Amino acid sequence: MKVTVVGAGNVGATCADVLAQKDIVNEIILLDIKEGVAEGKALDIWETAPINLYDSRTIGVTNDYSKTAGSDVVVITSGLPRKPGMSRDDLIATNAGIVKSVTGNVMQHSPDCVLIVVSNPLDVMTYCAYLTANVDSKRVFGMAGILDTARYRSFLAMELNLSPKDIQAVLMGGHGDTMVPLPRYTTVAGIPVTELISEEKLDAIVDRTKVGGGEIVKLLGTSAWYAPGAAAAQMVEAIVRDQHRIFPCCAWLQGEYGIDGIYLGTPVVLGKNGIERIIELKLNDDEMALLNDSAGHVREVMGVLDGMGVVA
Ligand code: NAI
Ligand code: 2OP
Repeated sequence: MKVTVVGAGNVGATCADVLAQKDIVNEIILLDIKEGVAEGKALDIWETAPINLYDSRTIGVTNDYSKTAGSDVVVITSGLPRKPGMSRDDLIATNAGIVKSVTGNVMQHSPDCVLIVVSNPLDVMTYCAYLTANVDSKRVFGMAGILDTARYRSFLAMELNLSPKDIQAVLMGGHGDTMVPLPRYTTVAGIPVTELISEEKLDAIVDRTKVGGGEIVKLLGTSAWYAPGAAAAQMVEAIVRDQHRIFPCCAWLQGEYGIDGIYLGTPVVLGKNGIERIIELKLNDDEMALLNDSAGHVREVMGVLDGMGVVA
């Protein structure tokens, strides 16, 4: 198995590192446009192999897509991250150009790959990659829900003083402040979370989750990378090991939830073909209203991309 990670910045390099440690693929190509950066980081990662005891060979290249040829999975992390005061949507113009050109190059050399988009604004950059790649939408999807639910689960673990391992949750909608954490589908070792925490505390955790990305941007002056990189690597693992795991991912909806023609966060089954199936939860009226609101916001940003004419 061969995996390419485009963008050797904070998220891309972390994703390659986590993936290498998992020891589940033969080769990881790290590609960046900045001379020497991918080569340097890939070599540094490879030099951990004798310490951490794995075989996955990590190789860095500067913009040479011939080295990515035949990749089974490609993760796109190239693009600008958020700075303080910026929303994810502020990145659209620059990142759409980058995602379009990267996707074109990737598909030329790995026409059968599964494509995972990480660049922001996530839902619309995934749409941009889908329009460019022109392949089945089951092979083009985005990473956000695993990160957002991980934040939600980690906050719950702190509040309840319980292991994050036991906290399971679903979150839907766009990767932005309108995301929809779903307390009704949150359990701790099978126990509904509402039996373990007050409504006020749970509401506060839901609110913190929605702005979880911004919380890190305020602290660091740039956006997060450890959890995003690990989340993308977890998606790669589910695909290369054909695990059929259920994760919230940014997927192309075609009538599911009564929503059509939009990339939005939803639980899906991930396996060797990419999205093996989209799971339709029985949302109540309040949850559906929140999801529709989130979809409306994503549609607005999709409209901006369509209006820019970056992608035909
Ligand atoms: P970064 O600035 O550390 O790395 C981005 C890398 O992309 C840089 O090394 C840059 O040289 C490279 N790059 C730019 N144009 C390129 C091109 N045409 N071809 C190849 N490489 C190119 O940024 P970071 O923190 O790694 O974030 C990357 C992206 O991921 C950002 O758009 C950020 O907003 C997004 N992000 C998304 C998350 C999600 O949940 N979906 C979570 C965290 C970040
Ligand atoms: C995050 O949620 C900014 O999308 C990035 O950390």
